[in-house]
Amino acid sequence: MRVVVIGATGHVGGYLVPRLVAAGHEVVAISRGVRSPYRTHPAWQQVRRITADRHAEDAAGTFAGRIADLRPDAVVDMVCFTPDSARQLLDGIRGRAGMLLHCGTIWVHGTAVEVPVTEDAVRRPFGDYGTGKAAIEELLAREFRESGFRSTVLHPGHISGPGWAVVNPAGNFSLEVWEQLAAGEPLTLPNFGLETVHHVHPDDVAQAFALALRSPSAAGESFHIVSERALTLRGFAEAVAGWFGRTADLRFLPFEQFRRQTTPEQAAATWEHISRSPSMSIAKARRLLGYAPRYTSLQAVAEAVRWLQSDGQLHLGAAEVPV
Ligand SMILES: NC(=O)c1ccc[n+]([C@@H]2O[C@H](COP(=O)([O-])OP(=O)(O)OC[C@H]3O[C@@H](n4cnc5c(N)ncnc54)[C@H](OP(=O)(O)O)[C@@H]3O)[C@@H](O)[C@H]2O)c1
Repeated sequence: MRVVVIGATGHVGGYLVPRLVAAGHEVVAISRGVRSPYRTHPAWQQVRRITADRHAEDAAGTFAGRIADLRPDAVVDMVCFTPDSARQLLDGIRGRAGMLLHCGTIWVHGTAVEVPVTEDAVRRPFGDYGTGKAAIEELLAREFRESGFRSTVLHPGHISGPGWAVVNPAGNFSLEVWEQLAAGEPLTLPNFGLETVHHVHPDDVAQAFALALRSPSAAGESFHIVSERALTLRGFAEAVAGWFGRTADLRFLPFEQFRRQTTPEQAAATWEHISRSPSMSIAKARRLLGYAPRYTSLQAVAEAVRWLQSDGQLHLGAAEVPV
């Protein structure tokens, strides 16, 4: 297949593009060219790179036509955040592309009733990001019902791998949290530390996209793409301290007090994560796509922390994250 990947050089694209090339697909990679791929890989030599700014070209009304002119068998859309942008792409490629795979987010769900949350749970998204992605999912599903145009939406959890800071046991991105746990220093968690986070390794997200490309039963469907199981903040902290031979020295504060003893930025990140406390089911992805995550949440996080240490961003002394 000729597969056009919009937003090809990011966390997921860095794994997806080599997978697609290895599977024998012809890959066209779209990005603004602001950054190099997270992962260098020989596969990039076989990929056609196109520089385009999706947002600017959406505004000019030219982006969808540009994608359709590439005559793709499949379009993988990693950077679509509004129904208007999704609608433009759909209108441009309907009848001119074989299928559309859209990257959503587990934040299309708001708070859960039953866990693990299944794809058919009543959606109660909040915040622009989650509501925008939920509206896109609805739009694509309606399009499939009405015109038969094949689309699939994959909803990753917190994407965690080497190359960037990932969600930590306090539910935010502070690097200090890893250092506190490695040093056996006290760490304060919000509430009882029993709210949850649900990570996924970018290669598992890439795996799911590659599977969806060749799964006819994925048409018109959406799937959670996360690790096998979510983590409680407390259990997450205890496991990380254990990597360094420590017992986590945890303190707990109601969220409003927790908020006051960290930065506004980290408090906001914690709130975004724990107010949703995702714990998602992958049963549907397993059944219809054959999805089998290679990484547990802790394994995905460990790769990220190992990379942060080797990049000099984390000061853990002689401590090392076990392989
Ligand atoms: N991060 C998470 O934990 C998380 C969780 C759930 C879902 N998601 C979803 O994952 C998707 C993002 O995937 P990712 O994490 O792989 O992305 P990423 O690492 O942020 O990379 C974004 C990619 O898109 C390109 N890009 C950014 N803006 C662009 C524009 N205006 N026009 C063209 N290309 C553009 C970037 O390259 P240039 O900068 O060079 O253009 C890069 O290739 C989003 O749909 C997001 O909702 C993310």
